[in-house]
Amino acid sequence: MPYSIAIDGPAGAGKSTIARAVAKELGYVYIDTGAMYRAVGLYVLKKKIELSDEKKIVEALPLLDISLSYDDEGVQHVLLNGEDVSSAIRTERVSEAASVVSQYKAVREKLVALQQALAKRTSVVMDGRDIASKVLPDADTKIYLTASVEERARRRARELQEKGEPCNIKAVEKDIEERDYRDMHRAQSPLVRVEDAVLVDSSDLTIDETIDRILDIAMKR
Ligand code: DC
Repeated sequence: MPYSIAIDGPAGAGKSTIARAVAKELGYVYIDTGAMYRAVGLYVLKKKIELSDEKKIVEALPLLDISLSYDDEGVQHVLLNGEDVSSAIRTERVSEAASVVSQYKAVREKLVALQQALAKRTSVVMDGRDIASKVLPDADTKIYLTASVEERARRRARELQEKGEPCNIKAVEKDIEERDYRDMHRAQSPLVRVEDAVLVDSSDLTIDETIDRILDIAMKR
């Protein structure tokens, strides 16, 4: 039987870094569900469909094939109609588009079905917002990974500085708070901590400590 670890949490909590490392350690497949919503966002932008035009987006869904592949290092690549869009989905514009299209019920239904099919085939570490609440309610291990707004803003500011982009820490904090609010209050699959998810607060933990904490929790199940 495949084993599954669900990691949910707000933006900037370090979910993908941590989930990828946990998967590598255990020899499971890492599934970044945010990347799938980003691929839908990218498609909508490319086709110049208005992000607010839910009807048109839903009509386009059957034309949209999203799949994942893994290179020799186990790094996930996202394919949109056969084209590798792994880098193209990492822009602010696509991030905004993903945030809008992920609110549409039909978009979620399509991607959730795909995610569930993947987890049936193989052991996975899956990260997102609705993994424990919706995609894999029977996951063997459920983690709610978070960090304080201040710490998440500091990490984001560091990333921006490394890229040479100027940033204002207060503005970054405000963005994070707004995104948290949107994720937690949307009608479709809002971000929630399910009752049986173990809370891991990474505010005062290093990446390695966070990975070890989650591996410990997974081993004890
Ligand atoms: O984690 P991320 O920033 O790559 O996610 C991109 C967007 O997709 C973000 O607005 C939240 C949304 N998302 C979602 O609604 N459900 C998921 N399981 C994963 C991401």
